[in-house]
Amino acid sequence: MTTWLLTGGAGYIGAHVIRSLQASGRDVVVLDDLSTGLARKVPSDVPLVQVNVGDKSAVTAALRDHDVTGVVHLAAKKAVGESVERPEYYYRENVDGMLSLLEAMAEAGTRSFVYSSSAAVYGTPGHEFVSEDAVLNPESPYGQTKVIGEWMTRNAAVNRDLSWISLRYFNVAGAASPELGDTSVFNLIPMVFRALREGQRPQVFGDDYPTPDGSCIRDYIHVADLSEAHVAAAAACEAQTLGQVYNVGRGEGVSVIEVMDVVSQVIGRDVDVEVAPRRAGDPAQLVATVDKIQRDLGWSATHDLRQMVSSAWEAWNA
Ligand code: WQD
Repeated sequence: MTTWLLTGGAGYIGAHVIRSLQASGRDVVVLDDLSTGLARKVPSDVPLVQVNVGDKSAVTAALRDHDVTGVVHLAAKKAVGESVERPEYYYRENVDGMLSLLEAMAEAGTRSFVYSSSAAVYGTPGHEFVSEDAVLNPESPYGQTKVIGEWMTRNAAVNRDLSWISLRYFNVAGAASPELGDTSVFNLIPMVFRALREGQRPQVFGDDYPTPDGSCIRDYIHVADLSEAHVAAAAACEAQTLGQVYNVGRGEGVSVIEVMDVVSQVIGRDVDVEVAPRRAGDPAQLVATVDKIQRDLGWSATHDLRQMVSSAWEAWNA
């Protein structure tokens, strides 16, 4: 039996990863400062250590007290716009927090590590699909902290027996069950739902991009599928000493306008969108190649966009 500690496990993605790891037969401990996470998302049989990942002595104690085999590091600030306004806060939370965790893991002798990275490391790629060996060109302090975290992970493994996988999340949506929905409103689908709830017109940030319908194209991945990718990564880290980076997406591009069409189908009425100006920093297209994770870890997505939107809508109205 292995035990995995999830930093940020009380968050939207973390709550799903808890349940997937438990279903795979692994024990789970959550370490979360509840600054954005919710204690109600942590099952009663999962210990919750309420500290900030920057508290190295507390993290080291948690790793030792629970005989932790591996860590999934989800705790980070992830609002791109906020990172532009408050870069120091993002470097403290995402980079200092990472440093503290890696030092705690070294002291406790924890040897497996799954790191939550992001498609934001790519910035604006120069081509339709982006693979793991593409040039990294993050365009926000948030994206830069994710690249730094990947570098820190890779370098920490050079000097000790650390088996690691960095997962570059593309656009996460949906919910495995209504109580696990995304309660933050930072991304497209919850932002559309909020506009509808408030009687506002959902906005399309630019329809003059060089794409078929003029709106931005992204690679949307169901959080349940993303969660299973963490189980596959944990199993790989347990089985061998490795160090790899994987895109986690569906490998399929969907435009903002196409998302709006699916929202209309799910809610059963037309969505009257408003075309707004482009949002600074948005690449026209960001779609993953996902053959590497399929080949190495045997993982691929199983849910489609309609399942993402319908499960998100059900959670939004729960
Ligand atoms: C998606 C598309 C918007 C709202 C960010 C982070 C990335 C990852 C996912 C953490 C864009 C458009 C949005 C709206 C719109 N997060 N949009 N109207 O920017 O692709 O990625 O979140 O890892 O790192 O960068 O996601 O959901 O903000 O936007 O037209 O009301 O929807 O312009 O094209 P994004 P998003």
